[in-house]
Amino acid sequence: MPTPSPAHTTLAGRTVLITGAARGIGAAVARRLAAADCRLVLADIDGPAVEKLAAELGGAAVRADVTREADIAAMVDVAYQRWGRLDVLFNNAGVIRVQPLLEVTRAEWDRVLDVNLRAVFFVLQAAARRMVEQPPIPGSELRGKLIQTASIAAYRGASPLVGPYAASKAGVVSITRTAAQALASHRITANCVCPGAVDTAMWAQIDREQGTLEGRAPGETWKRRIAGVPLGRGETVDDVAGVVTFLAGPDSDYMTGQAINVDGGLVMGN
Ligand SMILES: NC(=O)c1ccc[n+]([C@@H]2O[C@H](COP(=O)([O-])OP(=O)(O)OC[C@H]3O[C@@H](n4cnc5c(N)ncnc54)[C@H](O)[C@@H]3O)[C@@H](O)[C@H]2O)c1
Repeated sequence: MPTPSPAHTTLAGRTVLITGAARGIGAAVARRLAAADCRLVLADIDGPAVEKLAAELGGAAVRADVTREADIAAMVDVAYQRWGRLDVLFNNAGVIRVQPLLEVTRAEWDRVLDVNLRAVFFVLQAAARRMVEQPPIPGSELRGKLIQTASIAAYRGASPLVGPYAASKAGVVSITRTAAQALASHRITANCVCPGAVDTAMWAQIDREQGTLEGRAPGETWKRRIAGVPLGRGETVDDVAGVVTFLAGPDSDYMTGQAINVDGGLVMGN
């Protein structure tokens, strides 16, 4: 057996675009990949926050609303202008709204689906259109890797109160599998992570909105949710970031079309 070359065992030098990078899961992945010597483009609708993180980690910052076509083009361009290629996309920006099914308006449906599904598709498409034209990642047989953030809500509504969100995340799994099939012959992989209940600003919003609807004190909804986690604690951003780092790196090169639950055991089997 040949010994793997160092180029096959490291992420160093990979160029990575992260959407929703300013905080939460996106920021945790940015920190991990910066520590692994990746070259980062950090994109977020929150310009000042993403600029601050990029200044700290040494990457490029782009203020981008992923629902806008021009912003998508601009953030992908940064990687090609700076480094001439994009090795990994972490397609992660997302929003949620907790609302009873009977009260969901068309405007709310559109807002959630625009960011979580439509934008995820067109960000993936914009990255893939450039990736198919580029030579393989140095030391790899692959031209590029596309990683989406879905959710266990894709399989089992995290609660009946997040219908549009759950539908969007089921769509993200579907887009990932379509892309995996469409792009395999180009040597581009597509996989997604499905986190469970992660302690971020998004869950603080869920706790607030659901707590108000159900008459619970702040923090109670979160406590009840994590009481059911088989591994006995809430999920941290680093729990997700470790798996995304694996998906961005060479050790997952033979995986494509997968949706990986990272949820402390909340969902066992799809
Ligand atoms: N927190 C959880 O429990 C959980 C569970 C499963 C999946 N997820 C998913 O993980 C991803 C990250 O969520 P998080 O928990 O880190 O949330 P978060 O709210 O902390 O971070 C989301 C980031 O996305 C950015 N963003 C929102 N809309 C945007 C837009 N239109 N364009 C560009 N950026 C935009 C926000 O500014 C923010 O920085 C989301 O897709 C979310 O659905 C989260």
